[in-house]
Amino acid sequence: MIFGTGMAATTGQLAAGYGGRALVVTDPNLAGSPGLDSVRTSLHEAGVDVRVFSEAVVDVPESTIAEAVASAAEHRPDAVVAVGGGSTIDLAKVTALLASHPGPLSTYYPVESVPGPVLPLIAVPTTAGTGSEVTPVSVITDAKTRMKVGIASRHLIPRHALCDPLLTVSAPRTVTAHSGMDALAHAVESFMAISRPPTASSVLARPQVGKNLLSDTLALTAAGGISANLARAVDDGDDLDARSAMLYGSLLAGIAFGNAGVTAAHALQFAVGAATGTSHGLGTGLLLPYVMEFNRPARRTEMATLAGAMECADPVTAVHELGLRVGLPASLAEIGVEAGDVRGLAEASIGIRRLIDNNPVPLDVDALEQILRAAWHGEPNRLSTARG
Ligand SMILES: [Fe+2]
Repeated sequence: MIFGTGMAATTGQLAAGYGGRALVVTDPNLAGSPGLDSVRTSLHEAGVDVRVFSEAVVDVPESTIAEAVASAAEHRPDAVVAVGGGSTIDLAKVTALLASHPGPLSTYYPVESVPGPVLPLIAVPTTAGTGSEVTPVSVITDAKTRMKVGIASRHLIPRHALCDPLLTVSAPRTVTAHSGMDALAHAVESFMAISRPPTASSVLARPQVGKNLLSDTLALTAAGGISANLARAVDDGDDLDARSAMLYGSLLAGIAFGNAGVTAAHALQFAVGAATGTSHGLGTGLLLPYVMEFNRPARRTEMATLAGAMECADPVTAVHELGLRVGLPASLAEIGVEAGDVRGLAEASIGIRRLIDNNPVPLDVDALEQILRAAWHGEPNRLSTARG
C-alpha cells in the first residue's frame, strides 16, 4: 500500500516492475481528468507502453468484461492498472483473472476457486469507498440472472493499492456520500461480524474468516475516522484533510472486511439494489443501522466499543443520523419499495450465503423481513421495540 497526496506519480515505476506493457482500466468520466492524466504521465515517463480501456460502467455487466478482456488479449499487458471507483477496480480484477485463466467467469463463482495468480493489478481508487483496492472480492452482474455475484479469491487482491487523496477530490457529492456510507458499513459490519474459532482448514477455505483481532483494530480506527470526516467531505469536496481521512478510513475498512467479511446489510443491498436501481452505497448505508439494531443483543460489547470510537452515545442512532445528514433517503419506501415487496426481497437475499452466514445472529427469511420492514418505515427502534 502506498498512501499520500501526489502518490499517483509512483504508478509508472510500480507498473514497470512487471514489464513494459500495461492496460489501464477506467471509466468515461475519468478519461480526460487530471487524476487519470497524472497516472498516464507517470506510466509514460517510466517507458511503459499503455493501452487505455475507458468503458467501465457501474455493476460490471458481462458485455463490458468481454470487451475489457478482448482489449487485454490484443495488448498483452504485463500489469493492469485500475483507476476509478469500486466497479472499475472490480472490472480490472476479473479482466486480470480472465487474461490469466480460461472462462467462463461462472467457473470462479464458488469461493476460493481461482486456481492461481492473475495478472498483477495496481488499484488506484478515485472514491472512498468500496475498499476494493485491498479486498479479495470482485462484484459483477451475472448475465443470466442479472443478480450481483461476488467472486472471492485471495488471488484477486491487487498487488498494489495506490491511494492518492488528490484523485478523490473530483468525486461528486452524492458519490462521496454513498461510497462513504458504504465504507462505514464495511467497518461496522466487519467489527460486528460472526466470530469463528479458527481451524487450519477453515482459514484456508475462504478469504473472509469472520471478525478477528487484526480486523477489529482496523475496523475501529476506520469507523472513527469515517464518522468524523464524511459530512465534511460531502459538504466541501475540496477539503483535502477530510478527503485524506475518508480514503484512509475506507482503505482500513477494506482490509478489515476483506479478512472478516460483511453481513446482512450487504446481503440485503444486493436485492434492494436490483429491485430499485439504487447505488450500492445508498443501500448498504440505509440498511446498516437496522442490521446493527437487529444484531445488538449478540454484540453489546462491540456496540459500547464502537460508541467510544465514534464518540457518540449510541452507534445505531449515530449511523442513522449521519446517513440522513449526508442525504441518504429516510426509508425503503422513499426509494420506491412497496410494502408488499418486502417479503420477496428477504427471500432473494437469503441465498447469499457468503454474507448471510457471516452475520453474528443466525438469519432466516423472517428475520430479514423484520429488518427490511423497519427500514421500510425508516425507524431503527422498531426492532428494539419488537424485541421488548
Ligand atoms: Fe460495500
